[in-house]
Amino acid sequence: MNAQDLNKKKAAEFATKYIEAGMTVGLGTGSTVAFFLDALAEKNIEFTGVTTSNRTAARGAELGLKIVDVDEVDHIDVTVDGADQVDTYLNGIKGGGAALLMEKIVAKNSNKNIWIVDESKVKPTLGTFPLPVEVVPYGSGQLERKLAAKGLNPTFRMTDAGEKLVTDGGHYILDLHLNGIDSPELLSQFLSNEIGVVEHGLFLNTADTVIVGGDEIQVLDRQ
Ligand code: A5P
Repeated sequence: MNAQDLNKKKAAEFATKYIEAGMTVGLGTGSTVAFFLDALAEKNIEFTGVTTSNRTAARGAELGLKIVDVDEVDHIDVTVDGADQVDTYLNGIKGGGAALLMEKIVAKNSNKNIWIVDESKVKPTLGTFPLPVEVVPYGSGQLERKLAAKGLNPTFRMTDAGEKLVTDGGHYILDLHLNGIDSPELLSQFLSNEIGVVEHGLFLNTADTVIVGGDEIQVLDRQ
């Protein structure tokens, strides 16, 4: 296992401390969350899980975790998810695994959000990681041109087979290649107001706690 994966695993294992028997737990998506699912299964804690992607649902089922639909629960105690980049205000970019829409829905319905990341993902400002924007396929070429004209450098996310990637929700992803984001709030507002945008990967004021895996575990709490 390489150093980055080892740090992801450390953060994921640490996060199991926040899960108690009887809780309803939002389960994020990605390689760090995969370590978290394994660690949870090993601990044998009885909880109810709500997933954020078909991938996580499938892995949860394989591990024998109790998984229910998001609309079946009346609350989510805590959601544990990964992130692609996190800044010093605990804002983040998510969606590298194309699950941003369901991740945001689950996050917004959670009493507490914990992100688990390796130390390489913590940056002073956001934006060097491409910002995913989930878009309706119809008219997405027009939207791509509009975003390009704004200097946002969009590219459609493609599959290995060379086709446009389709998300679990049936949408495309435009990745914005930005060198940095001066104002995440303004960009978030702009993207949310664009017709055809379903959701974007800026997760602002969402994480309550970020667990950072490195030589030491760092726990960053929202002030
Ligand atoms: C999924 O769409 C993403 O938001 C992931 O949470 C993010 O990409 C982190 O993924 P890794 O844990 O695989 O780095």
